[in-house]
Amino acid sequence: MPDMLVKLYELPPLAPVLEEMKQKGIVIRTALGPEMKAVCGWAKEHFSEYWESEVEVAFARLPVSCIIATTEPTDTERSKLLGFACYDSTLRGFFGPTGVAEETRGQGVGKALLIACMHAMRDVGYGYAIIGGAGPVDFYAKQLGAIVIDDSVPGVYRGMLPTYTLQT
Ligand SMILES: CC(C)(COP(=O)(O)OP(=O)(O)OC[C@H]1O[C@@H](n2cnc3c(N)ncnc32)[C@H](O)[C@@H]1OP(=O)(O)O)[C@@H](O)C(=O)NCCC(=O)NCCS
Repeated sequence: MPDMLVKLYELPPLAPVLEEMKQKGIVIRTALGPEMKAVCGWAKEHFSEYWESEVEVAFARLPVSCIIATTEPTDTERSKLLGFACYDSTLRGFFGPTGVAEETRGQGVGKALLIACMHAMRDVGYGYAIIGGAGPVDFYAKQLGAIVIDDSVPGVYRGMLPTYTLQT
């Protein structure tokens, strides 16, 4: 899985994407500190210990560098987590990890999280973002015109320790 490069000065506008999500009853927003364990636990359960670690790093930063997608809360129902996206978690300037609950995929949530995260990166001062170990390369190329960085495998991940569970 190669890294990819994104031009943050040519991003699609965020407002229409947020509006489209709102019409579907989905909120895209920066996570709050008190939500750390909720998001970390979710990332571990749905994805991996590596991703749990990266979400923890995102919550150690202020502003929190994790954007979440939730259902709109009502008077009777609290909001439910549908997905997340982080930046400045693997390394400074890196986007990821990101994930959407399996049953929620295909509704534009991954795209909304991606675009919201890219705008957040631009707003904190980056000119380019690096998508670390991009799995769905076509998704990033299509949504953002991201380009694959040559010879970036294993790149920064070379020699990475296995997760704690795999070591024990
Ligand atoms: C990748 C992921 C975040 C996409 O989320 P999603 O909510 O299903 O994606 P969306 O509904 O926003 O898709 C938006 C568009 O991208 C396309 N797309 C989605 N996943 C894609 C993929 N893996 N490859 C190519 N295109 C993809 C969709 O078809 C859609 O196209 P459209 O605009 O023409 O309709 C989600 O599939 C996921 O959580 N995957 C597992 C974790 C993962 O691989 N994360 C990325 C790590 S780098």
